[in-house]
Amino acid sequence: MQKQTDSIQPIIWRDNTLYLIDQRRLPQEQIWLEFDHPDDVTKAIQDMVVRGAPAIGIAAAYGVVLAARQAWNVAAASWKQAMTAPLARLEESRPTAVNLFWAIERMAHLYKTLPDSESAEAALLAEAQTIHAEDIAANHVMGHSGSDLIEPGSTVMTHCNAGALATGGFGTALGVIRQGYADGKIVHVYADETRPWLQGARLTAWELQQDNIPVTLQAEGAAAALMASGKVDWVIVGADRITANGDVANKIGTYMLAVVAKYHGVKMMVVAPTSTIDWQLQGGDEIPIEQRSEQEVTMMNGQYIAPEGVPALNPAFDVTPAKLIDAIVTEAGVILSPSTENMKKIKP
Ligand code: MRU
Repeated sequence: MQKQTDSIQPIIWRDNTLYLIDQRRLPQEQIWLEFDHPDDVTKAIQDMVVRGAPAIGIAAAYGVVLAARQAWNVAAASWKQAMTAPLARLEESRPTAVNLFWAIERMAHLYKTLPDSESAEAALLAEAQTIHAEDIAANHVMGHSGSDLIEPGSTVMTHCNAGALATGGFGTALGVIRQGYADGKIVHVYADETRPWLQGARLTAWELQQDNIPVTLQAEGAAAALMASGKVDWVIVGADRITANGDVANKIGTYMLAVVAKYHGVKMMVVAPTSTIDWQLQGGDEIPIEQRSEQEVTMMNGQYIAPEGVPALNPAFDVTPAKLIDAIVTEAGVILSPSTENMKKIKP
């Protein structure tokens, strides 16, 4: 087991096998699971072994490599056709993070042009590794751009986990926080625990502690009072899907933070690679929002914490309107006061 420092990477390809760190077990246990079948990758995404929009996209890209191997082994003569069903299942694993569809489309675009030969797997692997490496590089670029927006000595708040674990490495929101801390811009981080999966408590607090970045954990219900005290300069979060007008889908509770931040004059930064932008959608109301099991809310560690049978709402994401956001930081540039017009500055 490698030491988990600022080089935390949740996805490893080694010896023809995909390895994912089981994020459901962190921080208590660091367990790596092995994958050699695309349907197991689909299940790992559904079950939150791997989570966070860019990490889901990268895992899916490696899932396409495994699908190609499987298709070649069982149906060499019609391997491209045999890819259709596992890739459709992979696409159905989670609906909101657009990086999933972006990565599968990029891989599908390639495999359709490849010759019918065993060498196809190697070409697809090279593309998946490029997607992986590009994501880490984008996070470093965004880290610097985001840090540049922050005044020295600032305190920030973050929600969920948009860290190394949610990406190829380094992180989006936590990439800015890592860089900002190194630059002396950020002196303290408040991390929301983030019900019901507790990504903030389990993953963000752990990542920042590994890097010796001062972090204080809080229930998200404590966020408004902390902002009212004047102690927070920026809220910094990631995104699962950004639409052409700058609306942002991110972990449930992000919208609430943005409203509270606006009221208290705290600035709101969203950090996401361009693979998170869905140029096809004009506004956030078009984003499909994942509804997860009620038991994720009514139970904890396999025990009911609510009366059995009580109905529970469990939307995994909400949409923050562009007008509540001060800056969207991407590797292609920073959009201040996001709007359809301002987003066009980074449109390919
Ligand atoms: O349900 P999750 O844990 O996949 O949700 C993750 C988030 O909402 C993150 O903030 C987002 O994917 C950005 S990760 C860089």
